[in-house]
Amino acid sequence: MSGFFKSSIGRKVAMALSAFFLMFFLLQHFAINILSVFSETTFNEVSHFMGTNFLVQFVLQPVLIFGVVFHFVMGFVLEIKNKNARQIAYVKNNGAANSTWMSRNMIYSGLAILAFIVLHFIDFWFPEINTKYIQGDWTGMHDGIEGYRYFHELQEKFVNPIRVVAYVVAFIFLSLHLMHGFASAFQSVGGSTIRKKRLQSIGKAYSILIPLGFIFIALYHHFNH
Ligand code: HEM
Repeated sequence: MSGFFKSSIGRKVAMALSAFFLMFFLLQHFAINILSVFSETTFNEVSHFMGTNFLVQFVLQPVLIFGVVFHFVMGFVLEIKNKNARQIAYVKNNGAANSTWMSRNMIYSGLAILAFIVLHFIDFWFPEINTKYIQGDWTGMHDGIEGYRYFHELQEKFVNPIRVVAYVVAFIFLSLHLMHGFASAFQSVGGSTIRKKRLQSIGKAYSILIPLGFIFIALYHHFNH
């Protein structure tokens, strides 16, 4: 197994597999969040289920956290190995001649997403962990709020325009990161040219539509509270 991670191809496969796992997470995260636009009650009920279900909390959540950390660590390892592989940096590495702009900047778009995740955890995840695991309150209720508290808490977060702008900028970086990630992950799959082209189109659509959907959610709650 360690031999697998030591080989360049092994690291790339591991990177692609963890990326697909995170893209699947992102899709379900979007599916749940978009409910907040259509129905406060449904969003609250689904959030309460996800936040209190044993399997989600103690199996899926740890797997997700591992997936996120793994992807970041592996991304840094790849970046460093690639830099070292060419002992002497390219004399000229500022044109589309060597590679596309985004492929050279995956590490920067990745860092922007990492910064977003830190902010996002401060906004949502840590308060949630605090309420449930430190204060021991699993009821999903909040003083002075009718029904579950989740929708109300989400709306509160998007009142501040600075946070909304930070989120929107992060989602643009996410789109760029996904765009190149998909393209390079699909590069190595087999199959006909038509199949490859179709996969590339699905990747492109995902990379644009999902971040755009997240932007819509952030703006929607900013302007409707
Ligand atoms: C408008 C956009 C978004 C909203 C409103 C939103 C909302 C939330 C909320 C309410 C939680 C807390 C869930 C909980 O633990 O109870 C959460 C967790 C999380 N979000 Fe987001 N999110 C958004 C975009 C994103 C994006 C784009 C990413 C990834 C790049 C992301 C990654 C995560 C992760 C990793 C967690 C922790 C999951 C967990 O274990 O609970 N979110 N988000």
